[in-house]
Amino acid sequence: MSQPVVSQALAPSPPRHIAIIMDGNGRWAKARGLPRNLGHRQGIDTVRDVVRACRTLRIEYLTLYAFSSENWKRPETEVAGLMELLRLFIRRELDDLWRNGVRIRMIGDRSKLAPDIMQLITDAEHKTRDNRTLTLTIALSYGGQDEIVAACRRLAEQVAAGKLQPAEITPDLLAANLETAGIPDPDLVIRTSGEQRLSNFLLWQSAYSELIFVDKLWPDFSAQDLAGAVEEFQRRERRYGGSGE
Ligand code: FPP
Repeated sequence: MSQPVVSQALAPSPPRHIAIIMDGNGRWAKARGLPRNLGHRQGIDTVRDVVRACRTLRIEYLTLYAFSSENWKRPETEVAGLMELLRLFIRRELDDLWRNGVRIRMIGDRSKLAPDIMQLITDAEHKTRDNRTLTLTIALSYGGQDEIVAACRRLAEQVAAGKLQPAEITPDLLAANLETAGIPDPDLVIRTSGEQRLSNFLLWQSAYSELIFVDKLWPDFSAQDLAGAVEEFQRRERRYGGSGE
């Protein structure tokens, strides 16, 4: 029985980095006649379950799209509610996350956040900076196009200052100037709620990510659904533009 040895050797690796577009909180609430913010509140329970499941599945990086640069256009009460949930999440979960080896990072436009939220996030990043079991990146006031433009500007400034030649600009150099520098690109991007688009999330980094769209609304998404997505990922063949032969 030599086959198991061979298939074990060839078993596709699980994703190192999973990125999730947590969509459908509003529809979850609407279906129950509840205000949208109660959908977001329920969504926090899913965040907790998914972080725990990532540790169990030995995922090294999890990036969650919590608030896009476009979400500021939502009604003031909804934005305020979401920010309050963020405060609650960090205050309530930080010790537990820290004890469980979770490193917290934030990507997005910090200048738009309230000073107290900024402080909470900076403190959380500092407290957990040496943890390596799971890196949890929260995309907040984040837009992929803005992130790429900011990286281009930084490189253009170096060119203008005579410190960089245009010919020296490579994909690796651009990636090193993104906010995600040091974090591997996501192997798997999951979006819940049946919508099938990226909505300005990790546009550069997801060039070769596998995309999995799940019909469930975010508050209904579970650890089992995450494990199912990982299994589907492991059944896929990643070719990175090659023929796969
Ligand atoms: C999309 O659902 C969800 C959001 C815009 C917010 C997601 C935020 C959380 C789950 C809570 C905060 C997160 C962390 C990491 C602490 P939607 O409102 O667009 O739903 P809809 O498409 O059904 O209207």
